[in-house]
Amino acid sequence: MSRTIFVTTALPYANGSFHIGHIMEYIQADIWVRSMRMAGHTVHFVGADDTHGAPIMLKAEAEGITPQQLVTRIAAERPQYLQGFHIAFDHWHSTDSPENVELSQGIYLKLREAGLIETREIEQFFDPVKGMFLPDRYIKGECPKCHAKDQYGDSCESCGAVYTPTDLIDPYSTLTQASPILKTSEHFFFKLSDPRCVEFLQSWTNGSNAQGYKHLQTEVLAKTREWLGNGEGDSEVNLGDWDISRDAPYFGIEIPDAPGKYFYVWLDAPVGYLASLKAYCAKQNIDFDALLTPGNATEQVHFIGKDIVYFHALFWPAMLKFAGRKTPDQLNVHGFITVSGEKMSKSRGTGISPLRYLQLGMNAEWMRYYIAAKLNARVEDIDFNPDDFVARVNSDLVGKYINIASRAANFISKYFDGQLAYPGDAASLSSHWTQAAEAVRGDLEIREYGRAIREVMGHADQINQAFDAAQPWLIAKGLADADPAQRDALQHICSTALAGFKALSVMLTPILPVLAQRVATDLFGQPQSFVWSDAGVLPTHINAFKHLMQRVEPTMLDALFELPADAAGKDKAGAEKTGKAKAGAATAAGDKNAATIATPSDTRLGADAAGSLIPGGEPIAETITIDDFFKTDMRVARIVHCQRVEGSTKLLQLTLDLGEGRHRNIFSGIQSAYQPEQLIGRLTVVVANLAPRKMKFGVSEGMVLSASHADPKANPGIYVLDPESGAQPGMRIR
Ligand code: 2FM
Ligand code: ZN
Repeated sequence: MSRTIFVTTALPYANGSFHIGHIMEYIQADIWVRSMRMAGHTVHFVGADDTHGAPIMLKAEAEGITPQQLVTRIAAERPQYLQGFHIAFDHWHSTDSPENVELSQGIYLKLREAGLIETREIEQFFDPVKGMFLPDRYIKGECPKCHAKDQYGDSCESCGAVYTPTDLIDPYSTLTQASPILKTSEHFFFKLSDPRCVEFLQSWTNGSNAQGYKHLQTEVLAKTREWLGNGEGDSEVNLGDWDISRDAPYFGIEIPDAPGKYFYVWLDAPVGYLASLKAYCAKQNIDFDALLTPGNATEQVHFIGKDIVYFHALFWPAMLKFAGRKTPDQLNVHGFITVSGEKMSKSRGTGISPLRYLQLGMNAEWMRYYIAAKLNARVEDIDFNPDDFVARVNSDLVGKYINIASRAANFISKYFDGQLAYPGDAASLSSHWTQAAEAVRGDLEIREYGRAIREVMGHADQINQAFDAAQPWLIAKGLADADPAQRDALQHICSTALAGFKALSVMLTPILPVLAQRVATDLFGQPQSFVWSDAGVLPTHINAFKHLMQRVEPTMLDALFELPADAAGKDKAGAEKTGKAKAGAATAAGDKNAATIATPSDTRLGADAAGSLIPGGEPIAETITIDDFFKTDMRVARIVHCQRVEGSTKLLQLTLDLGEGRHRNIFSGIQSAYQPEQLIGRLTVVVANLAPRKMKFGVSEGMVLSASHADPKANPGIYVLDPESGAQPGMRIR
């Protein structure tokens, strides 16, 4: 039966870039969503930025901008990561949105109507210089137990003691260094300790959804029992009321009928899930309120990390329940990602920058595959280990799976004109693959991704072993004088391997969506990518095999782990040693057909012997006249099409419209920085009067302008120029 499912991932704070922990969670959810869709279910997959709270307000203030400007800047960064890792949210929204204001205030008013809101006077530290109440993280002082200095307001990093900020000796505000004073203020509380809430939560946390899946994983349920008891009456309930208000100044949503009071960020953050869904429903003409009415069959599934269980397993279901909304159907909690065994910091992430990964031209599907191979349905941390990464991608993904197609397809193209044929028991082959795919689909549904991948690789081993045992290359060698039975045998061996390859591609589609799409359309000539039922449909024909996936170069991992500071340090050292920074017009990708224009915004600066700064790693070129400048005719162009160049690891081939009534073909050395589909439809700038240049792959009729650092080791990024929207193809740059 077809299901409708509303899926979210935790909303990231809008004061920093995505780190690998975010990307891991999005990959986990995206695989699940894709697999569900392949089974015919309707999935609404939405995300948003979590924008409110004191840290964002203070960071914006420190930068001299408004919180809204900060949030807008961070939001603009999101697509390059999401598209780069093929994470296909249907919609990305913001908690600082009209939908969220309306929904948060509406939910609050319902809770108030239900008698679950009360106010209390509380005493808190206040910074008299800054004129604001201080969140615990902005108060430091001496530990009352071990007397270590400069400990945070909630716990001591030195002796592990847990306390409240008022216990600190000589507390100070980290914002102004002032001694905070105690001040009273009225706060609003959600009465979670109300017996109705406790009873509901005891039942919800133990419950299952309509599919029979538990709302919570076993270890998450166990955690909630620390707060809720076991519901048997013989255990203690340890659930306090929740302080949901903050006093001005605060960047947040105003509490109705309470001037100067705002919702604490964690009140409106999960409501942001609904706000994003609502905005998406409006675009799609879907009845949002119906989806969230109790009793509606739409499932609500949240993917989150283990650090925010408290909010999602207690506060969030209770808020929804007593506001008269549908409650969540499933909370999928994952552990953290460590890198080479090292823990991640929530603000700084880990040693791996997902953006650097993409900028180095590393294939996003390697990362998707690797993360999937490590994940299971439990709340366990996973480790990114560079050697393991190289081994799994090169030996398993490329060496076992891709290898099947590259071995078998050439015989079929060469001797059988692409036609496949199976021995007599084709039906059992078909049902073998249907069953195998069903097992993998089932594992993906319960988030046992690692097990699913082990199954796929087990099948790949069997296919490769059968192929080796049949030695088709020997049959092919003697084919000229062989009897027809030998010819049939060769066709059967290769067809059977390719049917297996197709089935494995179906199974890997949620994990490797781009690769699988190419297998479906290019190799098997299907009009679109695979659905689960394709696994048992034996292919009858293939097109010529095209190269599918590169192996990882271990040096790429070295570059990934080279910290930017190291790279900058090397830059400087190199410049000092030679007395001169590396100059010249070479592009990062080493292709002369892509210009490099150093921009003043490049933050990675070298220095010459005299210590003057060298922007972008190369000195400013010799002075020219305006006439010299106008010799170069630069025009706005639209990128009509873009594709990889077979046989080149550096070039992309672009088809460009310069408003001339014809299209131009240009090769550009930007493959390391862009997936072709990222560029299609965009405007850029082209040198239009450059003499056409004959290259190995064809004639290049101009040059696409991009910015890069003179030394790609210092900064491997390549940034194609992008005129402000509104510019028209053909307009001249002057
Ligand atoms: O922990 C965090 O990063 C929060 N921004 C997650 C919010 S999830 C949801 F409630 F919005
Ligand atoms: Zn201490």
